[in-house]
Amino acid sequence: MFEKRCAGCHTVRGTRSAGVQAPDLTHVLSRRLIAAGTVANSPESLMQWVQHVQEIKPGALMPDMKLSPAEAGDLSAYLATLR
Ligand code: HEC
Repeated sequence: MFEKRCAGCHTVRGTRSAGVQAPDLTHVLSRRLIAAGTVANSPESLMQWVQHVQEIKPGALMPDMKLSPAEAGDLSAYLATLR
């Protein structure tokens, strides 16, 4: 799911996800804040970010991803592994 929807822009080192136009997410959960310091970092807030990015940070270069509930479930499990 991540490779299909997110990897065009984001890298996770050690996987085939190798996008270059957005922050590297390899250890995203090890950082305290994301989105240039505007969002506290937890699996829940990462999901809020991914689904409502344009409300959280209007004008951000990441589009709202409009995930289906199934995709959101997959993604939330995946993001929790990026420590
Ligand atoms: C069109 C390119 C693009 C796509 C597709 C995209 N992103 Fe992003 N993403 C960005 C950009 C650019 C930023 C930095 C935004 C900012 O801070 O203004 C970002 C930021 C993020 C952040 C915060 C990272 C940080 O260090 O602040 C997370 C988490 C994230 N994206 C996850 C995802 C996930 C998960 C997907 C797939 C569902 C996804 N992105 C799809 C471009 C993209």
